[in-house]
Amino acid sequence: MNKVFLNLGQQPLANSFLKDIKRSTLRNEFFYNLKICFNTKNYLVSIKKPVNPKKQYTDQYAHRASESKTMRLAFKQIAKKLFKRFKPKKIMEIGSNDGVFLKNFNKKSVIAVEPCKNLARITKKLFKTYDEFWNLKLSKKLIKEKKGEIDLIFSANTISHIPNLEETFTGINNILSQDGVFVIEDPSLLKVLQNNSYDQFYDEHVYVFSSISINNIIKKYGLRLFDIEHLTTHGGSNRYYICKEKGKYKQSLRLKRALKKELSYKLDKIKSYYKFSKRVKLSRKKLFKLIESLKKRNKKIISYGATYKSTTVFNYCRINSRMIDYVTDTTLNKQGKYTPGTHLKIISPKDGINDNIDYAFLGAWNFKKEIFKKEKNFLRRGGRFITHVPKVTTLSK
Ligand code: TYD
Repeated sequence: MNKVFLNLGQQPLANSFLKDIKRSTLRNEFFYNLKICFNTKNYLVSIKKPVNPKKQYTDQYAHRASESKTMRLAFKQIAKKLFKRFKPKKIMEIGSNDGVFLKNFNKKSVIAVEPCKNLARITKKLFKTYDEFWNLKLSKKLIKEKKGEIDLIFSANTISHIPNLEETFTGINNILSQDGVFVIEDPSLLKVLQNNSYDQFYDEHVYVFSSISINNIIKKYGLRLFDIEHLTTHGGSNRYYICKEKGKYKQSLRLKRALKKELSYKLDKIKSYYKFSKRVKLSRKKLFKLIESLKKRNKKIISYGATYKSTTVFNYCRINSRMIDYVTDTTLNKQGKYTPGTHLKIISPKDGINDNIDYAFLGAWNFKKEIFKKEKNFLRRGGRFITHVPKVTTLSK
């Protein structure tokens, strides 16, 4: 049974950056109620009423994985590691974005699945790309085109975006070779609870998985979880290794430990989520108060990184353009636009980072290390970052 434990209020699509803030544009802005629930049977945490994916993954999709050095490096390393461990002949990626992962393999052995047409267009020039949503129909199409029997299927930050898990996993089972491996990376629910990072909940994250929920769900579709790795990407993620029920892989010790750890943190109990919800409400109060008190002292505050996560924070905490002057972001196609729901102007760091700023809200808190290194001058001259993770505070180092 699904029980709602957190209501993050009316939210826009995290990725729906606005070209202008004319009245007519704002009138058409789409909002939905972001409620999060917990399934007491399979321990899955999900958005109560997911948004239609056709509204989300359009040819305007802004996120480009290759633009971050951290991500480029992370994908290169994992590609190398997976190749060494499993020696796959055929590789497929679901949610291949701009090809940041698949670029690391022989182009003839890879298949990309990417429904955002603007991104698929980039990889079509490099290797076989299906600009479609991953579902049962596409798995059947691959079989028909003799592209099944895939040895390695990789999917980073995508499976948690697909509402229909039944089609997702049945489709995977259809095209995975007998000893093939399905590897998925998604934000870790345990980390969300530990970091109080409620901003991992936005329209695209239909699910925030735990190893106990993945372990439960995939069994229904003839699949089995056999290994796990904990990652630092996206503020704490898990990499799940999945094979067919009769695949040759044994359950690893680290998976046993991970399952045990999550149970010791009571991720299988609704009470833990009610407690989390209380902490989130407190975090909202504190962040609003902090920014308001700084504003009263005439401090100039900006936001650093027009992230999807900060869409949830700003809309939930009712932070607006009176409090934050603008947002800086390195992504070219976010620059010149406005943040969803709160309508803060997004500009390039070159134009936006200057000596007048006193505080910068760390919207991209998951890149804290990279950003602090880059913004040494800002910190040296007394500039401070504001964060809400794991608790609301200001940071000078
Ligand atoms: P991302 O980590 O993908 O978070 P989300 O999934 O919540 O959107 O996005 C990070 C954003 O931060 C991206 O738009 C690029 C931006 N960014 C900067 O502007 N400067 C930086 O130094 C870094 C590391 C990221």
